[in-house]
Parts: sequence; C-alpha cells; structure tokens
Amino acid sequence: MKVSEALDSRLSVRAFLPAPVPVATIRAILEGAKRSPSGGNLQPWHVHVVTGAALDEVKAIIKARLADSTAGEGTEYQIYPPNLTEPYRTRRFRVGEQLYEAIGIARDNKFGRLMQFARNFEFFGAPAALFFSIDRQMQPGQWADLGMFMQSVMLLAREHGLDTCAQEAWAIWHKTLGTHLKLPDTLMLFAGISLGYRDDGNPINHFRSERAPLEDFTTFLGD
Ligand SMILES: Cc1cc2nc3c(=O)[nH]c(=O)nc-3n(C[C@H](O)[C@H](O)[C@H](O)COP(=O)(O)O)c2cc1C
Repeated sequence: MKVSEALDSRLSVRAFLPAPVPVATIRAILEGAKRSPSGGNLQPWHVHVVTGAALDEVKAIIKARLADSTAGEGTEYQIYPPNLTEPYRTRRFRVGEQLYEAIGIARDNKFGRLMQFARNFEFFGAPAALFFSIDRQMQPGQWADLGMFMQSVMLLAREHGLDTCAQEAWAIWHKTLGTHLKLPDTLMLFAGISLGYRDDGNPINHFRSERAPLEDFTTFLGD
C-alpha cells in the first residue's frame, strides 16, 4: 500500500468487527511507528496495549463508572480551547452534526447522542486498544511528536488491513485508567486509539469528514 493510499483510506472508524487482532500485528505496527521523528530524538511516547480479558476489564470498569457520571473525572489537559473561534468552532460543530446525521440521530435526540458518545468507552466494539501517554515535563513540541507517532500507528494499521479511531474521550477517565493501567505519576494520559477491522455494514463508517481547501491553510512565498 502506498503512503497516499494509507492516508486517503484512513478515517475514524466507529464500528468494528469482533475479529481479534494478533498481538504480533500490533507489535509490528509499533515497531514501524517507532521510526517516527521527534525533536531531539526524545521519542516522548508511551503506549499501553490492551486486548482480550484486559480490554473487557477496562470496559466493565468504565461502564460501571458511566452510570454515575457521563462527564467522567474531568481532564488533565484542555481538549479544546475554552472559547474556540472561527473557523474551528464551525468545523467542530459541522463534523458532529454530519456524523449524527449519517446514523439518523436527530439534533434534539440528546439521549441518542449521549449513547453514541458512550460507544467511545466500548472502543466502538474494537478488539484492541492503545493508550498513549507522555511524560508530564514535556512541552508542546513533544506533544506534537506524540501526535506524529499516533498518525504513524494509524497509517501502518491501514497497511495491515486494520482501522482505527483516535479517542481523546478517554482523557475524561484519566484517574480510573491511570490506576488501572498502573501509569506512573510521571506520565499523563493523552488519548486512546481503538484498533480493529472495520464493520463496513455500519453506516457510521461511510461518513467522510470534510477538509478545508489547500488555499485556506497554505501560504506560498516565492515562484
Ligand atoms: C487526537 C484525536 C482525538 C480524537 N478523539 C476522538 C474521540 O474521543 N471520539 C471520536 O469519536 N473521535 C475522535 N477523534 C476523531 C476526529 O473526530 C476525526 O479525526 C475528525 O473528525 C476527522 O475525521 P476522520 O478521522 O474520519 O478523517 C479524534 C481524533 C484525534 C486526532
């Protein structure tokens, strides 16, 4: 598979088949992703791979906690700026509206939307999950490195016929997950990635998010 094909075919998959992903495949993906660049070659990423009974355990723990609070434990970092300005505000709103429309959940169906959000905490049915954390001393540059590493994982997953969904939603359960995963105090949980085989029969996976045209985000100087 060409890099361009991996990029173009990657999307956030929110319905997976139950077929397991061999741990050997996950290891191969991470071995490949470790070639990602990082400023000063700090390689400031840490990954927890969770499959099988361990995955069921995480799901069960969070399911029990969700009954008390859908907002979780709050996040340690701000997922979005508090007063998102345009054009970002509209982009965020539009992708949400388009996603719910694709699966027939109306705007006033708050319960339906909440239930769909809660699917995050079932890893959308994926048989494998990766949790990404970073040393607390790290700065924006290293968070960017972690993002590049995660993109490498998602592209290599395509090469193996696998799909992914990056999930910041997991950050709202940072305390529970931190304890369960035995995350040392030095590490901060950033996000999860659900990993598995795409369920093509589910309309949620047929939604393709928009992108702004090149001219909107590029400045060419020179000839
Ligand atoms: C760091 C990161 C965190 C994300 N967190 C979530 C999440 O918690 N739940 C979710 O359903 N999608 C999540 N997404 C997916 C984005 O909504 C998605 O990437 C964006 O709408 C573009 O769509 P695409 O990935 O299908 O191209 C996340 C993506 C990234 C990169």
